[in-house]
Amino acid sequence: MYVGFIGYGSMGSMLIKNFISKKALYPKDIVVSTRTKSKLEDLKKEYPEINIAENNIDLASKSKYIFICVKQTEVKGVLTEIKDILNEEKHIISLAGAVTIKNIEKVFNGKISKITPTIISEIGEGITLICHNCKVEDEDKKFIESLLLKIGQVKRIDEEDFALAVELTSCAPGFFASIFEEFMKSALRHNRSLREEEIKEMILYTIYGTSKLFIDKNITFNEVIDRVATKGGITEEGVKVLREKLPNIFDELFERTMNKRKMIKEKADELFQ
Ligand SMILES: NC(=O)c1ccc[n+]([C@@H]2O[C@H](COP(=O)([O-])OP(=O)(O)OC[C@H]3O[C@@H](n4cnc5c(N)ncnc54)[C@H](OP(=O)(O)O)[C@@H]3O)[C@@H](O)[C@H]2O)c1
Repeated sequence: MYVGFIGYGSMGSMLIKNFISKKALYPKDIVVSTRTKSKLEDLKKEYPEINIAENNIDLASKSKYIFICVKQTEVKGVLTEIKDILNEEKHIISLAGAVTIKNIEKVFNGKISKITPTIISEIGEGITLICHNCKVEDEDKKFIESLLLKIGQVKRIDEEDFALAVELTSCAPGFFASIFEEFMKSALRHNRSLREEEIKEMILYTIYGTSKLFIDKNITFNEVIDRVATKGGITEEGVKVLREKLPNIFDELFERTMNKRKMIKEKADELFQ
């Protein structure tokens, strides 16, 4: 039995290529199906042993584990298409954050896991969030989580906690990229001689090292602030600005993203009525 992937877009391709390159799966053990088949030509050229399914039904009949990597609005259609093939042996792994396990169970009342990977899994970093329904046995949990562990950390949480956790793991690379960009632009506005590339290099290596410092030394944010921002010094002045302005910005960010998430979830729920 194969491991199947329905949908070869941003996430489907990231997972397949990463599982292969990290030797979590061999190409011969993978079967793929996607709407626009021509998009699989390069993959087949790179990994001739990979299996391309005729369609989603063919894929579902050949696979024990089925990763559904289509957009949230397309999940119901895919599930409906393959539901007659699904049985107690099959295990659906859905990537669609807005589609609840309860809704998937309306179509398939078997083994279901929900995962939220992150773009930084591409480099074997970051955290993939995961939860399982009660039908998923320990051996299946172990299999899926061991695959995902090859491409970063894995964190098992309750489904209701996904809403906030997804902002922190999957959306955060986008948030941080915006913050770094503004930090860089402001640095450029306050400098005449350093080039953009040089400023970017300084920012990126400093961010990378700062994260590593927290992880390797297991120290708190305040400990670092205390060590860098000496009383009456320059860093302290900058920290004051951030502590004054950032709480409102981040509160607004979470209010707006979580509102948006709620709206998207309501729309996804409607599709399963
Ligand atoms: N992007 C992220 O950072 C991210 C992070 C975490 C979770 N997710 C979740 O991951 C899922 C996939 O997101 P994505 O960004 O990878 O989307 P995407 O790039 O749009 O990819 C979706 C893929 O599914 C294919 N597809 C659509 N309907 C299909 C069907 N009926 N049968 C087979 N294939 C079909 C599409 O084919 P075409 O090429 O013909 O359009 C496309 O290749 C979503 O549920 C998303 O919420 C995304």
